[in-house]
Amino acid sequence: MTSLSVGTATKLRPATLADVAAMEVLMAPFVASGDLLPRSNYDLCRHIKEYVVAETPDGSLVGTGSLKVYSTALAEIAGLAVRDDQQGRGVGKALVEALLVDARALGLNEVFGLTRKPLFFLRLGFRVVEKEQFPLKVWADPSRHFLGRGHAV
Ligand SMILES: CC(C)(COP(=O)(O)OP(=O)(O)OC[C@H]1O[C@@H](n2cnc3c(N)ncnc32)[C@H](O)[C@@H]1OP(=O)(O)O)[C@@H](O)C(=O)NCCC(=O)NCCS
Repeated sequence: MTSLSVGTATKLRPATLADVAAMEVLMAPFVASGDLLPRSNYDLCRHIKEYVVAETPDGSLVGTGSLKVYSTALAEIAGLAVRDDQQGRGVGKALVEALLVDARALGLNEVFGLTRKPLFFLRLGFRVVEKEQFPLKVWADPSRHFLGRGHAV
């Protein structure tokens, strides 16, 4: 993936296995609040190549997100989390934009997010879509909104 800068300090880069422990710490409060679905250490390790992380100059991991591919045409932006004290600074937006760059490079024409924060995704050009058009396995939780970004991913 392309490395992007967030402001002048925080950098985005592909995740490595050395990030897994910090990713678990970063995601834990959002899993506890129900904003993120839980992921096991095994799952994070197995799918580490799907993840991008945001890192401050002191090496702290302050954000992460992943692109989960379902088919030749469809992928999900998942596991998106920005540390509480770093929210509102453009880190989440930069993570999504980097994942959309990856999606385009893979030739995907549709990306969706499944979220309790629909406004964030709407700000990034997503639109609310009917859950029925997505794979059954992703729509078990009725409290989440479906937002898709098609063709112009
Ligand atoms: C959702 C989340 C990733 C946003 O990250 P962030 O770094 O704070 O977002 P940004 O600063 O990049 O914001 C990008 C835009 O979205 C808006 N935005 C961010 N969070 C928002 C929210 N909760 N509601 C409405 N708008 C929001 C910002 O105002 C900004 O708009 P602008 O570009 O017009 O100024 C972060 O709040 C988070 O980690 N939440 C907990 C986990 C979660 O809910 N993840 C999503 C599930 S997939």
